[in-house]
Amino acid sequence: MELIRINEEKCTSCGLCIPLCVRGILEEGERAARVTNPDGCTLCGHCKAICPVDAPELPTLNASEFVEAPGRERYPTPDVLLSFFRSRRSIRQFKNRPVEREKLETIIQAGRFAPTGGNRQGLHYVVVNTPSKISEVKRMTVDLLARQAKEIDAALDLQARTGQSVPVEYEVRKVYTKRWKEMKTEMQEGIDKLFYHAPVLVALHINPSESTSPMVDAGLAGMQMVLMVESLDLGTCFCGFFVFAVNMSPEFKKMLAIPEEHIVPLSFMVGYPDVNFKRLVSRNPARVTWY
Ligand SMILES: Cc1cc2nc3c(=O)[nH]c(=O)nc-3n(C[C@H](O)[C@H](O)[C@H](O)COP(=O)(O)O)c2cc1C
Repeated sequence: MELIRINEEKCTSCGLCIPLCVRGILEEGERAARVTNPDGCTLCGHCKAICPVDAPELPTLNASEFVEAPGRERYPTPDVLLSFFRSRRSIRQFKNRPVEREKLETIIQAGRFAPTGGNRQGLHYVVVNTPSKISEVKRMTVDLLARQAKEIDAALDLQARTGQSVPVEYEVRKVYTKRWKEMKTEMQEGIDKLFYHAPVLVALHINPSESTSPMVDAGLAGMQMVLMVESLDLGTCFCGFFVFAVNMSPEFKKMLAIPEEHIVPLSFMVGYPDVNFKRLVSRNPARVTWY
């Protein structure tokens, strides 16, 4: 199926779409705008979004999603937006309450509409929201982390005695080894310092060879998703520990139907927060070079 065509009955040759096309595949035609190379379309939708008469047709996309834009007057003000960003905090105390499926679907939508390099849209999502699967994922994560903690400590011990170098990721992760060992013991006692008893885990995965910028794509989608979490009166916390664990184990990926060649750049927990922060916090001053 062709990716883009112009409905010549509708097109008025106003030319608005031509300079907007990032791939430069639109030009003036005799009666209407002309697509020079339909296969070169990135499906960004700019041509359709600008067209006063809705002449561009993108048959592989869902036409019903091309709805009227809200207009800048409906945007949040900078003050409101900044205080919303600052109000998002990592939640580590959750209520014992499941999250509604519709809310989880809205969170996925927030990821879906994030920008991706070259509009490649390579992200996939895993949502774990059943108690039995959450327990399975927790068990697997803490087992893998405890095992890696032992390996890191042993490698560092050997390094101290013989000077043998250790893998770079061990240098970065060595601060966690004590915590990962404790986490496993605590989990056996019903204390969850991994997901903090959150009822849902969301993970993003992507085939790095099918994306121009897999880590950035996941980060951008992840941030939109966690902000959506806030607006749904839910709370969230990114979970780097799960990310470490799942990326080091093909077996773990298989358990979650994540293809082995995919990477998991990001995950976060979701649940109803059992804490209500009264104050926004400070951050380090921004290091900015102005020219
Ligand atoms: C990529 C990433 C991974 C993180 N992984 C964890 C984690 O595994 N466990 C945890 O408790 N917090 C984790 N966090 C939360 C950070 O500790 C937290 O964002 C930071 O302390 C700032 O606090 P705030 O999110 O409340 O602003 C992670 C955050 C990011 C951005």
